[in-house]
Amino acid sequence: MKKIQNFTVSHLNEKDFKSGGLRKYSKYRDLGIAKATNGLAHAQVIKMIPPRTDEVSVWHQHDIEFQLVYVLEGWIMNEFDGLGPKVMRKGSCWIQPPNINHIVHDYSDDCEMLEIILPADFKTIETNAGAPQKYLKPSKKVRKKK
Ligand SMILES: [Fe+2]
Repeated sequence: MKKIQNFTVSHLNEKDFKSGGLRKYSKYRDLGIAKATNGLAHAQVIKMIPPRTDEVSVWHQHDIEFQLVYVLEGWIMNEFDGLGPKVMRKGSCWIQPPNINHIVHDYSDDCEMLEIILPADFKTIETNAGAPQKYLKPSKKVRKKK
């Protein structure tokens, strides 16, 4: 059965970025989509909090139906199980298939992303899949680039 969707709009207000979400090293701006779609989808802007610490690098997976991420500012270096490390820069867009194991290695001080997830309510499972949880440092060229 289709879920009822209501019109919603969220205008930029820096005060809307809140801590206390899924990750301590991120601030989230909830775009109000979960409420407007009765839980069909969730959309948020994520600002990564510098400096990067080892806490960020934990293999995990999300029990979702769909997940899209778009880098709005800076860069983030992720690794997806079996695909190797990938540097996503401003303008990069990808989907994370349901339950794919992945890890964050590093990110720029200004890293900001848009994330769209279905459904709005989902579980995150920490795993040990993939490689040892070793910090992979991006090249100097990547770290310097804005
Ligand atoms: Fe994740």
